[in-house]
Amino acid sequence: MGIASRWHRATRIQANTGQPVLRRLRACLGAHTAWHWPAAAALSWVACWALWQCFDRGAAGAAAACVGGVLLAALHRQRWRQLMVALGAPAMLLLNASASAAWPAWVWLLALLLLLVLYPLQGWRDAPWYPTPLHALQALPSVVRLPAAAKILDAGCGAGHGLAALRLAYPQAQLQGIEASHLLGLLARLRCPGAKLHRGDLWEQSWSELDMVYVFQRPESMAPLAHKAAVELADGAWFVSLDFPVPGVAHHAKLDTGTRHALWVYRADLLRQSLKTGAGASIRE
Ligand SMILES: C[S@@+](CC[C@H](N)C(=O)[O-])C[C@H]1O[C@@H](n2cnc3c(N)ncnc32)[C@H](O)[C@@H]1O
Repeated sequence: MGIASRWHRATRIQANTGQPVLRRLRACLGAHTAWHWPAAAALSWVACWALWQCFDRGAAGAAAACVGGVLLAALHRQRWRQLMVALGAPAMLLLNASASAAWPAWVWLLALLLLLVLYPLQGWRDAPWYPTPLHALQALPSVVRLPAAAKILDAGCGAGHGLAALRLAYPQAQLQGIEASHLLGLLARLRCPGAKLHRGDLWEQSWSELDMVYVFQRPESMAPLAHKAAVELADGAWFVSLDFPVPGVAHHAKLDTGTRHALWVYRADLLRQSLKTGAGASIRE
């Protein structure tokens, strides 16, 4: 759907609810910016940089860049995306100020390369790092009973916070994690010595032997992740997502985590059925 028709649709739907212009803009651009994240962030940073240049890199330019960054950040719904966009201009100004010290240009290139090695683009395209709160999964065993040595994977395990929360919920389980970033994977090893950890791409790993897959990714990844779960998980296995539901699919349970995140629970066989028939949308809350 083009931007123009998305705008018309968003304003038509939301005119009745009396939502302010910012919400309409978000509704209009939301899916667009989401699909193109992190390009949306990069474009916002370039726009801030251009503003700064337009004002001859002076104090007025710095102020314009920072204000522009905050306005562009407001177009995003998620707090971490707002922060990443808004902090671009102050970071650029800081870097510029410190670059006027006698640092050779290759230092910046080296820093960028190091960042990409430690935290490859693949890792922050699906979801950048954001940890699961320790007690967020405590209600899960009341809904999903698993055998003592059940195999549970945290797909995109970051620094191991999700694994620690899973350990609390299922003390006997065999925990596994896969993570794209070397650095975060290393931290996960330190945090969860009992878990089996791999560095790699979560899309490449088979889920066929698992009893549960836990994810804390991003809204746009949920449909493809649910498809992977439906194709690969066995009947009786579970797919659990923190914060983001599978669009248009009936959930088995939605749990309150005592944090601002909800926990969405799906049974693999029902997920498979739901995705096959497209029937889930009507049952969803
Ligand atoms: C929101 S964090 C969640 C971390 C952890 N699961 C937790 O709940 O504490 C998402 C993590 O997924 C990782 N990730 C994103 N895409 C990935 C991919 N394709 N393969 C492996 N890890 C990925 C990111 O590097 C990041 O650490």
